Amino acid sequence: MSAIRHIQNIALIGFMGTGKTTVGRLVAEQLKFELLDTDALIEQRSGKKIAEIFVQNGEPAFRQLEAQLVQELAARDKTVISTGGGLPTNPANLASLKTHSLVVCLWAAPEGIYERVREQTHRPLLNDPDPLGKIRTLLAAREKFYKQADVLLNSDLRSAREVAQQVIVQFRLVTQPRK
Ligand code: S3P
Repeated sequence: MSAIRHIQNIALIGFMGTGKTTVGRLVAEQLKFELLDTDALIEQRSGKKIAEIFVQNGEPAFRQLEAQLVQELAARDKTVISTGGGLPTNPANLASLKTHSLVVCLWAAPEGIYERVREQTHRPLLNDPDPLGKIRTLLAAREKFYKQADVLLNSDLRSAREVAQQVIVQFRLVTQPRK
């Protein structure tokens, strides 16, 4: 049975490097919403970088911090929530987000993701001898979770500004009464 939804926030989900943070910032600016980045908040609270949490405490500990944070988000309104790429793989996280947010997934092909993340080193899951292979494998395993979003937007062929515009259109469609 699905829970009642009071959509007052926007949650951006999707794989690493699909533009969630950039798009989230643009959407928040335009709607005059607050921007909340789950990774940034976890880092701020723990005083550690995500990569350090993975090394020192392990991935399960990180996932627990994510899940705790998701529970707190139910109290928010007028917030754009930019989530870590693995957060929706916990079905309880996705179910909780859906009670208060329009869940929008930014989708991109593995090659596009690789181009965006190849120069970056802060993502522990991509510190792999074959990052493109790892992206393909992880993306295939996660596809079923990402596709449970309310809206799926391909960010490969659009600028961040265009994607942000699409997010806003979709949000207004579900939150503003039809004339
Ligand atoms: C992760 C994605 C990262 C961060 C952590 C794990 C993942 O967030 O939460 O490194 O499992 O996909 P971004 O999607 O913002 O890079």
